[in-house]
Amino acid sequence: MASSKTVLAAIFTASLYFTATLAFPAHHEGAYPIGQSPKPDLSPDYYRATCPQADEIVVSVLKKAIAKEQRIAASLLRLLFHDCFVQGCDASVLLDDNDGVVSEKNAIPNKNSIRGFEVIDEIKAALEEACPHTVSCADTIALAARGSTVLSGGPYWEIPLGRKDSKTANMMLANKNLPPPNATLHRLVKFFQRQGLDKVDLVALSGSHTIGMARCVSFKQRLYNQHRDNKPDKTLEKLFYQTLASVCPRTGGDSSIRPLDFASPAKFDNTYYKLILEGRGLLNSDQVLWTGNDPEIAELVRSYAENESLFFEHYVNSIIKMGNISPLTGYNGEIRKNCRVANKNI
Ligand code: HEM
Ligand SMILES: *[C@@H]1O[C@H](CO)[C@@H](O)[C@H](O)[C@H]1NC(C)=O
Ligand SMILES: *[C@@H]1O[C@H](CO)[C@@H](O)[C@H](O)[C@H]1NC(C)=O
Repeated sequence: MASSKTVLAAIFTASLYFTATLAFPAHHEGAYPIGQSPKPDLSPDYYRATCPQADEIVVSVLKKAIAKEQRIAASLLRLLFHDCFVQGCDASVLLDDNDGVVSEKNAIPNKNSIRGFEVIDEIKAALEEACPHTVSCADTIALAARGSTVLSGGPYWEIPLGRKDSKTANMMLANKNLPPPNATLHRLVKFFQRQGLDKVDLVALSGSHTIGMARCVSFKQRLYNQHRDNKPDKTLEKLFYQTLASVCPRTGGDSSIRPLDFASPAKFDNTYYKLILEGRGLLNSDQVLWTGNDPEIAELVRSYAENESLFFEHYVNSIIKMGNISPLTGYNGEIRKNCRVANKNI
């Protein structure tokens, strides 16, 4: 029994490896901008010998956490984005204030907003118990993001693994690199370009807003002062506007929350794009994908609204790309024992 299971696992792992090899067929040095290049140091079977049960452990903790609170899946997916856009996917986002560390948790896009750290702690503790000093916090974020997507009904992807953890965080870079919700489309494209990500990546990854919530303060400008003119955003559908205004008054209520995709807030699907076509995207950064006068981007929104498989296919490519942004590998970085603290500060 145990041995036939092992054989099956070996075949499965081998087939994963084969698929991954196909996905990254060649490595042309310098041919890709940052984030786009295949990372030869990362591999989907990185923990095959040292912690084959890593993903199983991650998923079992996720299942409990999501059963307790559905939204946590969205919060964990967002962590990958906020990690990777700030000095690469190195778990810098998880570090608390400490000697030599100014936590990114206090940067404007993160403060009173980013969440899920307790679940990451729980996953990491379970990983340390099963495979001490083996699975990095950066890989833990990547595995938690994929597990959360899959458990919400979204696509599965092979994750290149083997990232190490940073010993530092960079709050100023978090303020600089994480796009604000009121950004224009032109600026959103720039934020993604800075990470080696293109327009397809911007539109596909924005589809992460098919799950989760945003605070009133993140969309209030659209309701009352969109163009510094004391008027609402004209692209907001009327009834949707009224609903939002009732939970997000001109003054106060800043931390009231609304679903990013009110039609199916816990299901990872393509309704996010359908809502955008109807003027019912929640954030300015969501709605401008359709109204921002970029025909290539608008066409992508329309095609994802029409074809969920296409959205999933592009999403998988783009999130793998995002997960490959400037990882620390080999002797760069470390495997933190506690995701909140660099090992030297323990
Ligand atoms: C395109 C630029 C983006 C902007 C301007 C943006 C902005 C935001 C904002 C303002 C919120 C709500 C935060 C709050 O009010 O507390 C949010 C939530 C969220 N974002 Fe984004 N985001 C972007 C891209 C992404 C990407 C690329 C991902 C993931 C790959 C992502 C995943 C999420 C998720 C899942 C939530 C819900 C989190 C929760 O419920 O805890 N976002 N985003
Ligand atoms: C976005 O919001 C910030 C903070 O409220 C504000 O300073 C900035 O002018 C806004 N940008 C746009 C384009 O409205
Ligand atoms: C939807 O996208 C998938 C994946 O790219 C493609 O195979 C399929 O033909 C598309 N369906 C339609 C109706 O265009």
